Amino acid sequence: MALFHWKKPQATDISQIQMPEHVGIIMDGNGRWAKKRGLPRSAGHSAGAKTFRKIARYCSNIGIKYLTVYAFSTENWRRPDNEVSALMNLFTEYMEEALRDFRDDYIVMKFIGDRSAFPEEMLKLMEENEEISKDRDGMVLNLAMNYGGRAELVTAVRDIARDVRDGALSADGIDEQTISDYLYTKGQPDPDLIIRPSGEHRTSNFLLWQSAYSEYVIMDVLWPDFTEEHMNQALLEYANRNRRFGGV
Ligand code: FPP
Repeated sequence: MALFHWKKPQATDISQIQMPEHVGIIMDGNGRWAKKRGLPRSAGHSAGAKTFRKIARYCSNIGIKYLTVYAFSTENWRRPDNEVSALMNLFTEYMEEALRDFRDDYIVMKFIGDRSAFPEEMLKLMEENEEISKDRDGMVLNLAMNYGGRAELVTAVRDIARDVRDGALSADGIDEQTISDYLYTKGQPDPDLIIRPSGEHRTSNFLLWQSAYSEYVIMDVLWPDFTEEHMNQALLEYANRNRRFGGV
């Protein structure tokens, strides 16, 4: 993983560059952002949710085709109850807002992760958002909620095993494409670029299978402070990388 060192955001022109088709973002650093200000962690998440709205809109406007954001991992349930509730409230608020205010939008909403852990009311909002947006032709926004790359692979292996048992699939016919087809991101291209703000050098269980050849750009900015200009910088860094996919 290469660390992208940048000094301070400068105006960048991204109109001429090679754009990634699929971008993933690990929205990290909300807690530290709040701590620096003497605020509760939930305030960091609220600020992070605002940044998410702004950056998702920006990605859609500049022609990104797929955006996957890591909003809640399978491990995040270990956080204190009040923090988990604050996050669930933010997700609920956003899903309600999307249904109410984004009727003429062109973003396609998808939720990736294990839904079984969410209350009925949230499940309904997820389904309604997916249903109302499914025929749109704009950017696909994957919200990763109760998502874990390992858990996703476990689910895929179970489903594959069942289909082999039932005769729908032959064991010898299983290849890499088969695995991709059993993941939440079925039918979508793998992420070209994964951005991790807040300076941590970890994948944190995000899109494990799909990110085999993704370019990582790690940025020293906390997610609530992430701006369109940081996004441009990451896109520029991506465009300057030489992707070889294991070749020369
Ligand atoms: C990781 O930072 C961030 C999360 C676990 C939550 C991410 C959620 C949001 C940005 C809100 C998204 C809102 C919507 C509507 C999708 P951290 O809290 O672990 O930060 P730290 O490492 O500084 O403690």
